[in-house]
Amino acid sequence: MEKRIKNIKKIAVLTSGGDAPGMNAAIRAVVRTAVADGIQVYGIKGGFEGLVNDNFYTDSSFLLEKVRKHFPFIKKFFSEEMVSESVSQIIGRGGTMLLTSRFEEFKEESVREIAIENLRKRGIQGLVVIGGNGSYRGAWELAKQAPDIKVIGIPATIDNDVEWTDKTIGFATAANTLSKLFDRIRDTARSHKRVFVVAAMGREAGDLALDAGVSCGAEVILIPEFPVDDKTIKIMLEKKLAQGRDYATVVVAEGVAKVEEFAERLQKMGFETRTSDIGHAQRGGSPCVEDRELASRMGFAAVKWLQMGRRSVATSTNGRNIYPINFKKIFTTKDEGKLKRKAQLYREYQEITYGEILVDC
Ligand code: F6P
Repeated sequence: MEKRIKNIKKIAVLTSGGDAPGMNAAIRAVVRTAVADGIQVYGIKGGFEGLVNDNFYTDSSFLLEKVRKHFPFIKKFFSEEMVSESVSQIIGRGGTMLLTSRFEEFKEESVREIAIENLRKRGIQGLVVIGGNGSYRGAWELAKQAPDIKVIGIPATIDNDVEWTDKTIGFATAANTLSKLFDRIRDTARSHKRVFVVAAMGREAGDLALDAGVSCGAEVILIPEFPVDDKTIKIMLEKKLAQGRDYATVVVAEGVAKVEEFAERLQKMGFETRTSDIGHAQRGGSPCVEDRELASRMGFAAVKWLQMGRRSVATSTNGRNIYPINFKKIFTTKDEGKLKRKAQLYREYQEITYGEILVDC
């Protein structure tokens, strides 16, 4: 058991980048763990942008908000400190109670300096940043610029594209949401004997498309990690048609193509197609059990690690344990194991679907 540093008295927490189901559960765990350990905890509203604008969480009830707006001096009478009740009833809610932003300006040292000053003037010694790759980048830069402030990251993005963690908070919920949608699409595809091209978010990562596609028995799954040419896609579809399947669901990851463009390609191959893209609805909704648990464990670990003096690390998981990974390692090395596991799943999926491997990976 590592030694606990008793002198950490004040920490802050923020969410940044695209929201992900489970962010609230992580905030809750950070706040409740800190409060239980006698640490004062502050919430920053609107990610790094909010930090630069000195936008700290206070009681956000409508009336108080109005009073504060018209009588700014009253602000000092409201405590910025979060308490246990501040995070009541949020574990099952999607989005983030602390709000979030994408804030390109944070790449500038002078902008980060304002953020650091806003932390220092409150005596904040530790910062928990909940978000994806862009947020980690900002967190790492801030940590390098302000050695007196310990920064810990918690991976939260539906894309599951953060290196050195098997899972990010929000991914499981989004995969479930998509899987249910694909089941519905299959009902109409079957009824009309059509090929449906359906979209999955994920930026350059195919995790969402792959997991959701496998879970609903999609006839074709296309992800950026393992490119497939048109000839092979045609073989895939024809193989399914030859097996007596007269409809199909083709899952296309965001990093491969837009569904409309892809549908045109299929039409040229002679298939009648329709498309479906639920867009940002993939990010919403109540987090599933897996995400609530992951978020709770990671939030807890982040606060304990701050007390142990850890800095510039992120909480990671291998599916069982939560362990620390340095920001440096995340940005300078590639987690080949993660890619290998994806390749194995894609190979197994192909064998189940086509009886053979058509795309080597
Ligand atoms: O990173 C999460 C994500 O939903 C990606 O899958 C998607 O490419 C992007 O965010 C969309 O960003 P925005 O919400 O800024 O349009």
